[in-house]
Amino acid sequence: MGSVFPGEVESLKSIRLDLRSWVEVETYLKHYKGIILPIGSTEQHGPTGAIGTDSITAEAVALEVGRRTGIYVTPTQSFGMAEHHLGFPGTMSLKPTTLIAVMHDLILSLASHGFERIFVINGHGGNISSVKAAFAQAYDSVRARNLSVSPYLRCKLVNWFMAEQVFIEARKLYGDSEGQHATPSEIALTLFLEPSLLMKQIELPKASPAGPIHGPEDFRRRYPDGRMGSAPHLAKPKHGESFLAKASFALSEDLSNFLAAS
Ligand code: NI
Repeated sequence: MGSVFPGEVESLKSIRLDLRSWVEVETYLKHYKGIILPIGSTEQHGPTGAIGTDSITAEAVALEVGRRTGIYVTPTQSFGMAEHHLGFPGTMSLKPTTLIAVMHDLILSLASHGFERIFVINGHGGNISSVKAAFAQAYDSVRARNLSVSPYLRCKLVNWFMAEQVFIEARKLYGDSEGQHATPSEIALTLFLEPSLLMKQIELPKASPAGPIHGPEDFRRRYPDGRMGSAPHLAKPKHGESFLAKASFALSEDLSNFLAAS
């Protein structure tokens, strides 16, 4: 019995599924059954944050977890469930039922080729319930279709921004100004990954406090500039570098446990 993952690789390019051939994937599957699927969202992140924040961050963490473990990383599912952000231009959302269908189909594609451990690295809280519903549907489908993977398929969702060390660090750096949306921690990671975003950073007035989430009109009324209790101008690129290290370290541990478990 070999290890459940290949181990650290030199280059991110060697773990990107989109840069592999089917022959390489088939060979990989003879030894390893795990794969990482990043999911984000394309949605407003306050007046100074990038629309792609949740996808940019989830992808970076996923690739870093892939680099540390050698586990393949699929292209990012960059559209998520962001209905409540549709009051702001640039937001592109999938309805919950659409996202469930998309994730279900992606998991079924992977499972039909023998991937048994699907590790979803998520960058957006709004995706959680739909992704979990998709897992339940996928288990049902592999059974109904009598796929050979059926008894072995396991799917797991992890949120990089909720990794314990990330959470502690965000509290330490920003206190209550971390807020709930367009948070300085996620913005810091985008600043580290894409320095051109620094030009947008200006000090903002105090945000509306975080509260309930309903429809898009209600959201814009409660949170007029799109932020929920956050002060994204506190974000620094070097914080982002630290968040990336902490998140990828914690999630690599999670992944190795997930791959090793029955
Ligand atoms: Ni976000």
